[in-house]
Amino acid sequence: MPIHLRAEPGAYADAVLLPGDPLRARYIAETYLDDVRQVNEERGLLGYTGTFKGKPVSVQGTGIGSPGATIVFEELIQLGCTKLMRVGTCGGLQSSHHLGDLIVALSAVPADSTATHLVDNEPHCPTASWELIHGAVHAAKELGQAIHVGPIVSTDLFYNPSEGQYERWSSRGVLAVEMEAAALYTLAAKVGRRALGIMTVSDHLITKEETSAEERQTTFSEMITIALDAAIEVAARVPAASMGGAVLCTAFRSWSRTTSTRPTR
Ligand code: HPA
Repeated sequence: MPIHLRAEPGAYADAVLLPGDPLRARYIAETYLDDVRQVNEERGLLGYTGTFKGKPVSVQGTGIGSPGATIVFEELIQLGCTKLMRVGTCGGLQSSHHLGDLIVALSAVPADSTATHLVDNEPHCPTASWELIHGAVHAAKELGQAIHVGPIVSTDLFYNPSEGQYERWSSRGVLAVEMEAAALYTLAAKVGRRALGIMTVSDHLITKEETSAEERQTTFSEMITIALDAAIEVAARVPAASMGGAVLCTAFRSWSRTTSTRPTR
């Protein structure tokens, strides 16, 4: 039994939603899942397992920031989870985006120490699972929900003293800033698991736009529905037992056969 998630293998579903705020984990479980049971409360890291549209899904709070969150990611992996989906908030970096917009993080610039330590400070591009990206984009389309798909940056500093840092990231096409995805993507790549981050823009670091709590709540619901739909769709199509098998999706089948040396992504 891991130290921080006091659960046995099998207590968590194959797919886990990962909000930073443990109380958000409880809210998601109580609002969106059926047959819910609490599977962890150690250190206030609330975790739940239930079903969504009849399929098993878990939701686990991670706390803020990569070092603590990575303990949770590691222990979920020890417990057998193979699809790890961060759902959270981010600071917007593109002027054309607005508070409440949904961001799907294709990749995450590792401006945090955890992600870089995981690869011994060697250059590495933390990248989401194609399967989960595809699932989220498809789910958003079904809902008629606009999303932005692209690179984000994961930072150690919520209060960043570096003058002009946000503008420089913005000018290089980075969509948003948050604090966990790069470590999640890096760890998942190292151990052959699938990872994704979906975030709503909660504050805008370029336009300084402000919005109401009610408006933010609406897109929060869309984000959770997209994540849950993607989780169960990918879990059905790519069962945990197939981890380590070849990546085969229709559009890229021939590409995959000839070039895939990283079969788990
Ligand atoms: N910075 C870093 N992480 C964040 C922010 C931010 O402005 N907003 C939400 N998560």
